[in-house]
Amino acid sequence: MRKKLAAGNWKMNGTTASLAEVDALLAAHPAPKCEILLCPPATLVSAMAARIGEGPIHTGGQDCHAEPSGAHTGDIAAGMLVDAGASHVIVGHSERRQDHHETDADIRAKASAATDAGLVAVICCGESDDQRVAGQTLDVIGTQLAGSIPDTATATNTVVAYEPIWAIGTGKVPTLEQIGEVHDFIRKILIERFGAETGDNISILYGGSVKPGNAAEIFDVANVDGALVGGASLKAADFSGIISALETA
Ligand code: PGA
Repeated sequence: MRKKLAAGNWKMNGTTASLAEVDALLAAHPAPKCEILLCPPATLVSAMAARIGEGPIHTGGQDCHAEPSGAHTGDIAAGMLVDAGASHVIVGHSERRQDHHETDADIRAKASAATDAGLVAVICCGESDDQRVAGQTLDVIGTQLAGSIPDTATATNTVVAYEPIWAIGTGKVPTLEQIGEVHDFIRKILIERFGAETGDNISILYGGSVKPGNAAEIFDVANVDGALVGGASLKAADFSGIISALETA
């Protein structure tokens, strides 16, 4: 069975005081009918995981290094995220691809490191505005996925997130047809590469300006198994609305 996942990416937002949002989410969803993941900045992973304890929310990192240890100032190894209490890590977010010049090969190495350490890798892909306008969307996604997903991917260690760059933090959302076209395409690629058993069971998230008001219709689209949420994951009240929409999808 494909897992439904509501994932929040806090990006470079949040301090210890923000953990009150986690308390509010736990109170609102004591027994959720979907998986919930919060990826706070690295400084909060340990505190958030401890705060959640046995609760039904997973904690994740926003990036990891491809090496297990070494002279890499400022970087964090996948095993360190595990040690801090994380179960997932986002890799290849477009902000990492842009700000840190991460290539598909870098992302594949990070995803391998993550799954080797026992984390679920949430591997992101997405086209720019220019690429969409030029009609290159499916080519771009196909290339990113071929390069970024390790051969060892399984339905339990990998999640794919489709995030059109032009929809991230902009309030612009693709049409449901556009979302459906890309998600169907990703499903086809996963099945071709990993076989029906694995390819059909890897969850595919949509990300980019998901809000409580548009979540339900997005979750109705075939092959949308959840969302990767930025801005609207920072406040429990907003994220809770998205979780509720996924629970009933
Ligand atoms: P957004 O970000 O929900 O703020 O658009 C999504 C993301 O970058 O994961």
